[in-house]
This record gives sequence, C-alpha cells and structure tokens, in this order.
Amino acid sequence: MSTSAELQRRRTFAIISHPDAGKTTLTEKFLLFGGAIQTAGAVKSNKIKKSTTSDFMDIERQRGISVATSVMTFEYNDTLINILDTPGHKDFAEDTYRTLTAVDSVILVVDCVKGVEEQTEKLMEVCRMRNTPVIIFVNKLDREGKDPFDLLDELEEKLTISVRPLSWPISMGARFKGVYKLIDHSLVLFRPGGQKIADDILEVNDLSDSILDDKLGADADQLREEVELIEGVYEPFQEQLYQEGLLAPVFFGSAINNFGVRELLDTFTRIAPVPGSREADIREVKPTEDKFSGFVFKIHANIDPRHRDRIAFLRVCSGKFERNTFYHHVRLNKKLRFNSPVTFMAQSKNIIDESYPGDVIGLYDTGNFKIGDTLTQGEAINFKGIPSFSPEIFKELINLDPMKAKQMDKGIQQLSDEGVVQLFIQQPGNRKIVGTVGELQFDVITHRLKHEYGASCRFDQLKYFKACWITSDDEKKIDEFCDRKSSYIALDKDKNKVFLAESAWILKVAQDDFPDIVFHQNSEFKTTLPVK
Ligand code: G4P
Repeated sequence: MSTSAELQRRRTFAIISHPDAGKTTLTEKFLLFGGAIQTAGAVKSNKIKKSTTSDFMDIERQRGISVATSVMTFEYNDTLINILDTPGHKDFAEDTYRTLTAVDSVILVVDCVKGVEEQTEKLMEVCRMRNTPVIIFVNKLDREGKDPFDLLDELEEKLTISVRPLSWPISMGARFKGVYKLIDHSLVLFRPGGQKIADDILEVNDLSDSILDDKLGADADQLREEVELIEGVYEPFQEQLYQEGLLAPVFFGSAINNFGVRELLDTFTRIAPVPGSREADIREVKPTEDKFSGFVFKIHANIDPRHRDRIAFLRVCSGKFERNTFYHHVRLNKKLRFNSPVTFMAQSKNIIDESYPGDVIGLYDTGNFKIGDTLTQGEAINFKGIPSFSPEIFKELINLDPMKAKQMDKGIQQLSDEGVVQLFIQQPGNRKIVGTVGELQFDVITHRLKHEYGASCRFDQLKYFKACWITSDDEKKIDEFCDRKSSYIALDKDKNKVFLAESAWILKVAQDDFPDIVFHQNSEFKTTLPVK
C-alpha cells in the first residue's frame, strides 16, 4: 500500500473523560469491535479491565486509576485506528494535555447522570485551544440520568461548543428502550446486558411507521415529538464544522451494555480527520511529505519492572518510519537507530518494521529522549506544542540517605525527562524544587525513587503560587530582576529562568516593577492554555 493510502486509512484519537464516566469501558468495546480482544464478557471483569489498558505501573494497580497513557491499535472497516488512552485523574492532567498534542481528534465521554464534570471542562478547554474535532458520547443511558435536552444545553454551555445530536435516546434508566439514529432514520433497540456485537436495528423510513408503536408503545409518540423538536432546533449536521472543531456531534448509549458503540464507531471512522499537518518551529510539516519526522510526547519508564527500560512514545508526523534506519535526534544533534520499535496492543508489544503518519510507536530508550524531542531524516526542526505549564504544588525534595545522593539525582532527573514532575534547581546549594499538578504525583515520585532507584526522600512543602518563565528583550533587566529576587529564581530542565511567585499579588507587583520583563505562563513562552 502506498504511503498516501496508509495515511488515508489512519485515525488517531484520544478518549477523554472525567474519571468513572466510562472511558475504559468504551475503549474496550472499541477493541472488541475491532477484534483486538476476543472476550465479549471480559469488559465486566475487573481483572481484564484493569490489565488490558493503561496498567503498566504497580502504583496504578494499587490505586485503581489510570496513571499512564497507553496506546492501542486496531482495525475496523479497513480503517486503522490508534487510540491513545489518557489518565482521567486530574493530578495527571499534564500527561493528558501532552497526549492531546499527539492526536487528530477526540471522543469525549460524559456520564448522563453526572453531566459535565470539572475534568471534562478542563479537557475540553485544551481541545478547543487546539481546534481538535470532538465527538461526544453520553454514556450510562441504562441509568436514570438527566433529561437529554438539558444535557445538550449543559454540554453547549459548559463546554463552549455547539452540539448536534446524531442519535437520540428513547427513555432511559430501567425504561431505556434504545436510540433513534437521526442520521439514517433507523431504530436500534436496547437489550440490557447484551454482550453481543450486533445490535437489533430496524430501518424506519418514516417516523409515523406503526412499527414504532409496536416496538416502543407509549414512548413512540414521545420520540416523534422529540425528533421533531431536534430537527427544528438544530441545524443539519455539518461535517466541515466538526472537522474545524466548532461543532460536536453527540451520541447516546451505554458502553457497558455495548449499546450505541457501533453507531459511534461507524460515524467516527467516516468523519474523523486523517492525520493532519503539524506546526514546527520553522515551518509546517505535512503528513504527505516524503521524509520522516515525529516527536516524543510521552516517556514511560519501567514497563517491565525486571528491566530498567524506558519507552519513548513517538507520534509519526510525516513520511515513513523504518526499523533499523538512522534518524536525526534534533536536540542532541545525533544519529540514532532503532532495531526494535514497537506498537502496542494492551499489554503486548509487537515489533514493527514501518510506520506512517498518525501512528504512535514505542522506542526503547536508554536516556536519549526528553518529552518534546523531535526525530527527522536530517532536517533541524522542532515540533511545537508540548509546553510545560506552571505546577500547582511545589515541594523541596530532601534526600534521606546521603549514600544514595547520586541515585536520587538520576532518578528525579529521569522523572523530569518523562514529564512526571517539573524539576526546578535553585542556587545556592542545588536545591531541588519539585512542581506537580496534584498531590498524587508526590506519592508516585516517592514510590518510584524508592523502587526504581533505591533512594529515600521526603518532601517539604513550599508556599509558591506559580512558576513563571521570564524573558526580556533587555538581558540587563533580567539580570537586575534575578539579583533583586534571587531567592525566588530557579532554572527549569532546559535551564530557562523561572520566577517562583508566592502569591498572585507578589506576581503582580513584580510585573508592575519590571514592565520590561514578560512573565510567561508556560515554557513555550506563549500562553495557549489557562494557567489553572
Ligand atoms: P473511566 O475509565 O472513565 O474511569 O470509567 P470506567 O470505564 O472504568 O467505568 C467506570 C464505572 O462505570 C465502572 O464501574 C463501569 O463498569 C461503569 N460503566 C461504564 N459504562 C457504563 C454504562 O453504560 N452503564 C452503567 N450502568 N455503568 C457503566 P465500576 O463499578 O467502577 O467498575 P467495575 O467493577 O464495573 O469494573
């Protein structure tokens, strides 16, 4: 198959949701449809559920939350689908943001009982800023949830995006009967607990068809009224608006019952964008270009705890990636060759010979990669869009075992390269200030430093409010500022200067006193995301 044909059949997307909305369950149903897993009943089993997806780390097993982001590839209707799973837990939000840089579209899962939750709103903000096309799946219709019209209003209001239902639920909870597909006017009837892949579908040419009354009883008239209302209120679905990230089609269903999933997947494969162009520092890179390029958006250590292996997850952006070929590591200005690049399917990894734009491959790494690194066939370009954001919590890392100082240094450095933490070094004394989005990450760090590097540590809370990257056209101003505020200046992993502000007021005073200095909210020196 030609590179362009390979490109055309690829769809790379992430499923995102507030924890517990059903992201994992939906992912597994997708895999079932794609034949990537065989056990239809497996989805109900905790064992399979907890070990099929992103369960690479011990700590995740202990906590039962998705710490890691994993990648799964399967084929459906001749389409090659790469799903990037994301941790729903807010403490790992940065990991999710980075993953969103590597996808072309998103499926957002919302629980019909809970509606739009906090994490959903934040994730959607990231999608909106990147104009990522979003399809919404309203899940758990087998439960008594919010009124579907209210839900649509809530989606529009809280997610600040226009929505357009493409399927419509017929009642819900114990009375849930199925969905009416607004796209092709067919009725899909619900059978609770159905684990089979095929649904019962009835073609209905006309809503006045008496078959509706036979199958739905009193709910038939209500459906007729609601469909009329929808068609009156909502504009017909426009694919173009979806592709531009302005309009989100909405599906209703129940992932656990395997209901509404096929409609979602069919529409997804039809309308979701193929791998698109990517912004690099000096130019835009098109997927159709002959020469290979890609960037690392995630690094995962110790997938197999018996070996100290790291895997860098690379999104292929252009050309064809080939095994055993030398590529140019732009930051290190070094040639690297990979003899066992892998793709992922649940916990199994398969060595691949070639990959195409949209694919995510795992490269075994001995410490060459940092998040954001670019590989090319020689050109010195750097892909943009993987900034660090100001952490929310800051603590000083204190080594508890002087004999293990080297191990701790190495460990925290690697965790910083992986993007698990942000490390700021402050002088004098090489103080290590660790910044994270959530408390949970400190547990992860302590656990990993102990188990992977044999280093014991403690964290002392610091009262910082924000880390701001500082730049100025006038270097002297920076020097002056750093002299004046020396105890609040630190260097980030790339040796950029950062001002650690203790409060919003202190930050404001600093800005007022030093108008020639720009206080950046993220490490890419342009604010693309709110610092919240
Ligand atoms: P997440 O990845 O978004 O965190 O959610 P996950 O799929 O783990 O689902 C969260 C819980 O919601 C699970 O129950 C799951 O079985 C349930 N669930 C998913 N889809 C549906 C649905 O369509 N209807 C109903 N009623 N429940 C659904 P759990 O008790 O936390 O786990 P488990 O013991 O069932 O595995």
